[in-house]
Amino acid sequence: MRLLVTGVCGFVGSALARALLAERAGLKIIGVDNLAREGAHHNVAALRALGVDVRHGDLRVAADLDALPAVDAVIDCAAQPSVLAGTAGSGCTPAQLVGHNLEGTLHLLEYCRRHSAAFVLLSTSRVYSIPPLAALPVVVHRGAFALDPAAAAAGALPPGVTPAGVTEDFSTAAPVSLYGATKLASETMALEYGHAFGLPVWINRCGVLAGAGQFGRADQGIFSFWIREWAARRPLKHIGFDGLGHQVRDCLHPRDLAPLVLAQLGAGSSSDKQRVLNIAGGASQAMSLRQLGAWCRERLGPHEVASDPAPRPYDLPWVVLDSDRAASVWNWRPRTPLAEILEEIAVHSLAHPNWPHP
Ligand SMILES: NC(=O)c1ccc[n+]([C@@H]2O[C@H](COP(=O)([O-])OP(=O)(O)OC[C@H]3O[C@@H](n4cnc5c(N)ncnc54)[C@H](O)[C@@H]3O)[C@@H](O)[C@H]2O)c1
Repeated sequence: MRLLVTGVCGFVGSALARALLAERAGLKIIGVDNLAREGAHHNVAALRALGVDVRHGDLRVAADLDALPAVDAVIDCAAQPSVLAGTAGSGCTPAQLVGHNLEGTLHLLEYCRRHSAAFVLLSTSRVYSIPPLAALPVVVHRGAFALDPAAAAAGALPPGVTPAGVTEDFSTAAPVSLYGATKLASETMALEYGHAFGLPVWINRCGVLAGAGQFGRADQGIFSFWIREWAARRPLKHIGFDGLGHQVRDCLHPRDLAPLVLAQLGAGSSSDKQRVLNIAGGASQAMSLRQLGAWCRERLGPHEVASDPAPRPYDLPWVVLDSDRAASVWNWRPRTPLAEILEEIAVHSLAHPNWPHP
């Protein structure tokens, strides 16, 4: 099987390419990346050494895709991945964001149509509607926001959310952020191409992905960012809500996506399996920033964290994805425990104190 992995030099693309090669003998991977993400060039030589055919290309330029050979499937990991992308001060206009995240997807779908290739989109929990997520009833429990058990018992949670997390049935009504909107629009177009042209299309809505080598920032890749900045004793701040870092996210290693993606690619366009899935660490792999700080203090020693309760756009108190559908449809579950992910990031951060950081 020959695959095209886009954004192959990014965090997820590079980790997934490595994991796919480890999981399936005989796989050929062509990777494309415009190397726009600071640090992406670090992955080029290592991927080539593994046999990945890494090519420089920009998904916004259709001709860059015309130059590629046919493949059996495209795994789209290229994007401007920050929830703040397109907002003032993000360094990216809304039009540029749409260019990378939506136009790029459309060019890939055309490429898939020409070659009858399957399409796997790395989508995001950020397609879920912000107002009902922001209004979830939460209490503070052991240094972390948790869904209010009284509200859960009284059936007062919005549709599509339980203490196990947010399901695929949660609202995707705007606002979802400009970033989330480009991903949701990409999902819709991918599903339409699948329907119109008989292409196998799979949408994997990922929660926070984390691991060694991520170019994490406060607004994207929070687990890696926090550990790396802590290890280097650079300034850290609890931003928003109560300024105490009670916000909760779950966490998954991107290599854990590999078995799922291979199963999806084996299924074909006539499969009646559900096309849209949440893929995330889930409740057992979730923690607050404050709890992550406690882990850092234990592992890396003391460090001051400042507090700024001023809200940040699109921030949310509790985002945990329920991947039960993926478990029942594909028997997929996270493989890498949270503790192992954190330790992997810490080891990498200590060994590479100058790894690209904001
Ligand atoms: N990291 C997460 O926590 C997370 C969570 C949910 C979904 N995702 C999705 O996973 C994918 C990968 O995210 P990541 O964390 O690896 O980000 P990343 O920035 O590390 O990697 C993205 C890669 O895409 C490349 N790229 C960007 N625009 C491009 C273009 N126009 N043409 C070619 N290459 C381009 C960048 O140079 C970079 O190497 C994204 O689609 C993102 O939406 C990530």
